[in-house]
Amino acid sequence: MTTLPVADQVAAAVARAAGYPRLRYMGSKYRLVPELARVFAEVGGDTAVDAFCGSGVVAYTLKAMGYRVTANDFLNFPAVIAAATVANQTERLSDVDVELICGPPADDRDFIRSTFDGLYFDPSDRAFLDSAWSHIDGLTGGRRALAISALVLSAARKQPRGVFTVTDRRYDDGRRDLRLPMREHFRERVAAYNAVVFDSGRPSLARHGNVATLDGRYDLAYLDPPYAPPRDDNCYIKRYHFLEGLSVYWRGQQIMAGTRTKKLAKKHTPFSYRHSVTGALRATFERFADSTIVLSYSSNAVPDAETIAAELRAVKDTVEVVRIEHRYSFGTHAAATRRQAGEYLFIGR
Ligand SMILES: C[S@@+](CC[C@H](N)C(=O)[O-])C[C@H]1O[C@@H](n2cnc3c(N)ncnc32)[C@H](O)[C@@H]1O
Repeated sequence: MTTLPVADQVAAAVARAAGYPRLRYMGSKYRLVPELARVFAEVGGDTAVDAFCGSGVVAYTLKAMGYRVTANDFLNFPAVIAAATVANQTERLSDVDVELICGPPADDRDFIRSTFDGLYFDPSDRAFLDSAWSHIDGLTGGRRALAISALVLSAARKQPRGVFTVTDRRYDDGRRDLRLPMREHFRERVAAYNAVVFDSGRPSLARHGNVATLDGRYDLAYLDPPYAPPRDDNCYIKRYHFLEGLSVYWRGQQIMAGTRTKKLAKKHTPFSYRHSVTGALRATFERFADSTIVLSYSSNAVPDAETIAAELRAVKDTVEVVRIEHRYSFGTHAAATRRQAGEYLFIGR
C-alpha cells in the first residue's frame, strides 16, 4: 500500500468534503474545512470526536482523513445526517427506493399537511412530506438515515433563508431552490447524499445526545459549541424546529401551544448563556482532558478569548491559538457585524 504525503492526504480530504451537501446552518464550518483539515493532520491520532457536529461537515472531513469518528449533537436531525454520511459506509438509496418514496403514499397520514397548513410550503409539498414518510417508515439503517437527511435538506432548501422563524414569504427571492417542487428537491438531495457515501474502512458512529453524557476516549476532540452571543440569541430550535420535527415525523415531540410558528420547546444548553457558558466549557475541557482539544471560537462570543485560554490551560500543558479569517455562512441583519468577527482555533495539547 502506498501512503500519500500529508499535504496530499489533506488535499484529498478537503476535496471530498467539498462535495458534502450544504445545509444552511448557524455556525457551520464549511468554509473552514481546509484550515481545520490542516490542523487535524498536524495533530494526528486514530480516533476523533466531533462533539457538536451540527451540519456534519467537520465530522465528515475527519472521516475523510481516516479517523474513526464519533459525531454527536443534542439535536436529532444533525445526528441523523451524521448517521447517513459519517457512520454509514456502504448503504445507498437505490432508484427503486427513490421511486417508491416519490410515488403514491403508503397510507393516508396527513400530520404535516394539516398541522402546518398556511405556515410552511404549499399543500402539494406538505402532502409529499407526509407521503414520503409513509415509505421511510419501512426503511432501516443507513438507507433510512439517507432518506431522512434528503427530506430534511429538501425542506431546508425550500424554506426562504432556511429558517422557520417566519411563516410568510418575505425572504422569497424567487431562487430555483424555492420554486423546485419538494419531490424534485428530494430526488436531487438523495443523489447528493448518495454521492458522498464512502467506506473509510474505519468504523464510525453517530450519536444523538448531550455532550455531558458522551463517553469514550478520543485522540482528538473537536469542539464547536454554540457560545453565548453578546446580543440576539442563538437558539437552534427556534430556527430549525421544523427540521427537528421532520427528522422524527414529530413523534415524541411537543409543539408549543400558542406559538405562531408551531415551534418545539427550546432545548436548554448551558453553552448559550453568559452565566453558564464558562462552567460548561470547563466541564467539557475536563471531560476531554486526555484528548488533544481543537476548539472553534469566534471573537465576539462570550466568554472572551483570555477566559477560554485560561480554562484550557487548566487541563492542558500547551495552548496554541490560530486566527482564521472567516465569514459565517449564516446571518441575520443584526448579525451583520458579528459575521465579520475573527474566527479562532484553540489547540490544547
Ligand atoms: C456551532 S454549531 C456546530 C456547527 C458544526 N461544527 C458545523 O460545522 O455545522 C453548535 C452545535 O451544538 C449543538 N449543541 C448545543 N448544545 C449542545 C449540548 N449540550 N450537547 C451537544 N450538542 C449541543 C447544537 O445543536 C449545534 O448543532
